[in-house]
Amino acid sequence: MAYKLLFVCLGNICRSPAAENIMNHLIVQAGLSERIICDSAGTSSYHIGSPPDRRMSAAAAMRGISMKGRARQFQVADFENYDLILAMDKDNYLDILALDPRQQYCDKVRLMCEFATRHQIREVPDPYYGGREGFEKVIDLLLDSCEGLLEYVKSSLPD
Ligand code: 4NP
Repeated sequence: MAYKLLFVCLGNICRSPAAENIMNHLIVQAGLSERIICDSAGTSSYHIGSPPDRRMSAAAAMRGISMKGRARQFQVADFENYDLILAMDKDNYLDILALDPRQQYCDKVRLMCEFATRHQIREVPDPYYGGREGFEKVIDLLLDSCEGLLEYVKSSLPD
């Protein structure tokens, strides 16, 4: 059974699809595509069915990463279906936990920036209403976090 990761932000058009596609890029490079599977979702229904935001795709392309996928909303079944759920910011984290009132799955939910080693910031900032630099910063932070996350997942994979 593959290890399943779910990246979650508000709209699922900027940060979480970037995290998903960056992580997939690293997973392919590491030769682990059969063992680690990624998806992403939004806590809101605002952009269901939409492709990633063009500004996010442009920032990712500058780092050689192409953005795929369509937005979907996080659902309660995701708690069962994924091994680890990575929230981009604290609001996303609390919105996810609010869907688990019996606190059965809280150990599966983590903040993405916990895995960063080169950045001190604790949340992936929402770039939606800002300029180009905000999107570039998101990519840098996610590259760092995804590298740390890959090391963590590798250490949890069975031999
Ligand atoms: P994301 O960015 O959560 O990183 O996908 C946003 C996308 C859309 C909105 C806010 C943030 N919005 O308000 O529509």
